[in-house]
Amino acid sequence: MIKRFISLAFLSCIFLQIQAQQKIDPSTIREKMQWFADAKLGIFIHTGIYAVDGIDESWSFHNKKISYPDYMKQLKGFTLKNYNPAAWADLIQESGARYSVVTTKHHDGVAMYDTKMNDLSIVKSTPAKKDMIKPFFEELRKRNIKCGAYFSLIDWSHPDYPGFLSDSSKYQVEKDYDRWNRFRKFFQGQIQEINAQFKPDLWWFDGDWEHSAEQWESEKVRSMILAGNPKAIINGRLQGYGDYETPEQNFPVSRPKYSWWELCMTSNDNWGFHHDNNWKTPYEVITIFIDAVSNGGNLLLDMGPMEDGTIPPEQVNILKELGSWNKKNGEAIFNTIGGIPQGHFYGPTTLSKDSTSLYLFLHGNVNGTIMLKGLINKIEDISVVGTDRKLTHKVVGKISWSPVPGLVYIDVPGDVKDKYVTVLKLKLDKPIKLYRGQGGLN
Ligand code: GLC
Repeated sequence: MIKRFISLAFLSCIFLQIQAQQKIDPSTIREKMQWFADAKLGIFIHTGIYAVDGIDESWSFHNKKISYPDYMKQLKGFTLKNYNPAAWADLIQESGARYSVVTTKHHDGVAMYDTKMNDLSIVKSTPAKKDMIKPFFEELRKRNIKCGAYFSLIDWSHPDYPGFLSDSSKYQVEKDYDRWNRFRKFFQGQIQEINAQFKPDLWWFDGDWEHSAEQWESEKVRSMILAGNPKAIINGRLQGYGDYETPEQNFPVSRPKYSWWELCMTSNDNWGFHHDNNWKTPYEVITIFIDAVSNGGNLLLDMGPMEDGTIPPEQVNILKELGSWNKKNGEAIFNTIGGIPQGHFYGPTTLSKDSTSLYLFLHGNVNGTIMLKGLINKIEDISVVGTDRKLTHKVVGKISWSPVPGLVYIDVPGDVKDKYVTVLKLKLDKPIKLYRGQGGLN
């Protein structure tokens, strides 16, 4: 978490982030990005040895909440003994998600698959003794869910990686390029392994802030991935060489200007399994999800399974509730595009791809009349999504000689209320046209 990132390198990292302008022209990747744009919901999974004690993933030793040797003792307690990849995939499918991204290696350097590049993996160094990734991807693919590999560029355990604790590092790259080159061979070797063995549909890099594009060889890493896996999508944490942006735990208020973006968010306050108990409610998660989609983005919602592979019941509940809401209201979410600009309707909206249907999301208790401004189109029909209810509307204040459209008032009876968020579908006569002026004033 950016907030927790208080190492000495902080200032230079901020600088690197500002430097990392997008190098990829969106018009060249539009085709491969289509499934991602349609997907809307992904499930992030942080599994790792940090689940044994339920402490902050990797950051806990980096920030000296626990000593490194004590952190690594967790290797002995990581069993995955109840790991059931089919059950994970079923739950993800039930939530309505179209992709899932799982940690193949976090900043602590423990690989979740059988890496041949060193011995620090759950296969060689924990009682789990197995690769977690392959069976999971197989189950996802059976269900037509896209597979994403999270990979931390940072590896605080590797002897040749310069960073270590927040206030100390092993060496400076500029002063020992031989050592840095050894690390580059290592991390790029792991990327090659993952690319070849699991063929991720999406690469989710993390930790690029500790070094520049030149130091990571971001351009080379990107081409390496695409050479073996030409359609792979790469997230925006590769110092400018990714395909889409990933605001983390931060909610955009105005619509992001990027062609594709994804909000990644925890379901309590931590990525990995933790005892913080500050769970978001299903209502909160659903409204955040709608907010992201209405602003043209996706939500990547995280869960952190326990060391034995059990998913905490609170997370199961969130995913199930989200799933039943999606089942009823999914028409207004999946295969839509971001909604109309703010100011027309006091709530989130989405549009069908041909822009002839406008979806209005009504949070909380609905019982009364809602208003829509500046709609030039005729409304052919209004229905409550997921039901067979039709609603009526009235156009108010339309002046015959004026080009300014009237206000649309729609009566919403209380008995159509959804458990979480009620959705109305307005079928329009033609693709949507909006009046954006100041009521005839110049
Ligand atoms: C941050 C954290 C990391 C977490 C990731 C998920 O970059 O460093 O712990 O895995 O965000 O988005």
